Amino acid sequence: RRERSESLSDLMLKAQNFYIAELAKSQIGLSYLKERQISEATRQKFGLGYSPDNWQALEAVFGEKYSSKALEDCGLVITKDGHRYDRFRGRVMFPIRNPRGQVIGFGARVIGKGEPKYLNSPETDIFKKGQEVYGLWEGREAIRKAGRAIVCEGYMDVIQLSQAGFGEAVAALGTAIGEAHIRKLFKIVPQIIFSFDGDDAGRHAARRALEQALPVITDTQEARFILLPPEHDPDSLIKAEGSEAYEREIQHSFPLSTFFIDSLKAGKSMGTPEGRSQFLAEAKPLLLSMKEAPVLRQQLIGSIGLVVRMEPAEICSLIGIPFAAAA
Ligand code: GTP
Ligand code: MN
Ligand code: MN
Ligand code: MN
Ligand code: MN
Repeated sequence: RRERSESLSDLMLKAQNFYIAELAKSQIGLSYLKERQISEATRQKFGLGYSPDNWQALEAVFGEKYSSKALEDCGLVITKDGHRYDRFRGRVMFPIRNPRGQVIGFGARVIGKGEPKYLNSPETDIFKKGQEVYGLWEGREAIRKAGRAIVCEGYMDVIQLSQAGFGEAVAALGTAIGEAHIRKLFKIVPQIIFSFDGDDAGRHAARRALEQALPVITDTQEARFILLPPEHDPDSLIKAEGSEAYEREIQHSFPLSTFFIDSLKAGKSMGTPEGRSQFLAEAKPLLLSMKEAPVLRQQLIGSIGLVVRMEPAEICSLIGIPFAAAA
């Protein structure tokens, strides 16, 4: 099993080196990255490449092995109706590395417009999407130094943030952020800043991240939320307004408690008993999920009390958790 995993990552590394070499020769690929304002140094740091627009380009790399099952197992080659062809064609290639720096998958962006915009490696023996964090290896030093991780939506956000001096940026992979990702990050740093797109999908992702963070967070850890204007993601904000604008967003980011209360208030008329009871009904499962942060939960209940006009002890007995009376 071990040997096999190593050989899959060997194949991935070979492919990555090919994609890097192809990018150096590709006018289309290079000018696309230039248009996205990605520097050569950033390109190298993230090992960006280009997959030629050709059905069997990897044959040149793997020769006879192109017909081996291993290439299918690692997701680089697809067989359909007896024909074998490359999964990634005519795309900018983003290698996904595990914490040891081994290439375990690729994200691949179409040049310009086209569907799908991103194509990702399928899950394989070495690539489990629910667990891998993009940028963790590239950002390992910056993350340790900053004592925090900035979690954003996409490859381009991670790369643009890194280039702008926020090397601690990471992203979940083609899937929403989950508990496993958050646990992984909190093992390394005490603070996570969630920084999703300003659009509806991004707001939804932030709300989901809150739900996923609550069962995991402890009293000594911190989660914060950046809510960008609807037209921006971290990449576009930095390009439009510079890294200082993003630094301001970090300074103005919301603590978990504020984001919790604000997002539950949204759409409810808190001036009415109905609105306040809807708020509490929604808050209940979230508060119950905070198994690792008893003090933070108690504090949050204190703030919620002001919003729903109830004593913290009443809230605790309503939702069925013990109330720790203040000393
Ligand atoms: P770029 O700035 O070019 O990355 O485009 P964008 O900001 O519009 O990307 P978007 O916010 O839509 O996507 C963020 C992340 O979601 C990407 O980095 C991908 O990981 C993922 N994603 C976006 N579109 C697709 C898609 O069509 N298929 C898959 N599998 N993932 C996608
Ligand atoms: Mn989009
Ligand atoms: Mn988006
Ligand atoms: Mn985006
Ligand atoms: Mn973007």
